[in-house]
Amino acid sequence: MKTILTGIKPTGVPHIGNFFGAIKPAIESANNLNAKSFLFIADYHALTTVRCAKELDMGVKMIACTWLACGLDITKTVFYKQSDVPQIFELSTILSNVTPKGLLDRSHAFKAAIDAGHDVNMGLYNYPVLMAADILAFDTDLVPVGKDQQQHVEITSDIAKAFNAVFGKVLTVPLPDTRKEVAVLPGLDGRKMSKSYGNVIPLFADKNELKKVIARIVTDSSSPTEPKSTECTIYDIYKLFASEDELGIMKEKFSKGVGWGEVKSELLEVMDSVLSPMREKYNYYMNNFHEVEKVLKQGAEKAKIVASETIKRVRKSVGAS
Ligand code: ADP
Ligand code: TRP
Repeated sequence: MKTILTGIKPTGVPHIGNFFGAIKPAIESANNLNAKSFLFIADYHALTTVRCAKELDMGVKMIACTWLACGLDITKTVFYKQSDVPQIFELSTILSNVTPKGLLDRSHAFKAAIDAGHDVNMGLYNYPVLMAADILAFDTDLVPVGKDQQQHVEITSDIAKAFNAVFGKVLTVPLPDTRKEVAVLPGLDGRKMSKSYGNVIPLFADKNELKKVIARIVTDSSSPTEPKSTECTIYDIYKLFASEDELGIMKEKFSKGVGWGEVKSELLEVMDSVLSPMREKYNYYMNNFHEVEKVLKQGAEKAKIVASETIKRVRKSVGAS
């Protein structure tokens, strides 16, 4: 049976772009796949940039509640927080000794930080080594990631091969499983929806807030009687939430002419009906976080059992058993 594993960095309030582009497909594959599945919150990876305890704590809380509210099935996936599994950090220390410096010099994230003139800390430089430990500690076969993370998984494979070349066939060499390009969801201003552009629709905004955010979606200045093209931000978003029937009706309205105000209020209704059950669960988990903490601790216990087996093997192979 194959093992699949992926990690999420706990930074920022989740938006509907994250949901359709990452969370929903990951949950569908974790819930369906006939594989061992691990999903974790990479809180120490976030430390390369986060400088405030409350911010990291809140980031972890929001991400954990988000995944549970969106339907992650914890009977099928081991769900845990990276910092609860110390074996990962022990493995990271060992792996750094077989990692050629040149491999890390070539990392896109490191190079981008240098090019942007940022101060680079060793956490950022070592980021791929810690990520390799996250993956190799669980004998992972496949790592579902977006294109931006593919290089990190390739570096992991190189580190595993370098270790095995010296100490014998101890580590499982993983492969990235890069998702087919999911459509990029546009934000309020038509550019890619992204935290960094400030154009997001938060996933768990309440109906009033949603109404205000939807009002900000940029539209053209055509009059309500003029036919409209479906190639626009508002239709792209509507399409993700509406049923086939609702979509058919909306298409017809577009071709005959419809006011943007009416389109926006219909968008609000379909969005709210899809999002409100998840929002209720999210609010429940945020208000009862002790239940989520319990889930994460139980996940960490399961994760530790697997990671200790790997670390035992690794220690023995290097002569530190
Ligand atoms: P942001 O751009 O808001 O900082 P992240 O880079 O944290 O978002 O993205 C987390 C995940 O959500 C990634 O897998 C990314 O591919 C996905 N994602 C982010 N924005 C979008 C979007 N507008 N459309 C589709 N997927 C997205
Ligand atoms: N670096 C990933 C990101 O920024 C998060 C991550 C950390 C990860 N460790 C991982 C992803 C291991 C997959 C496997 O999105």
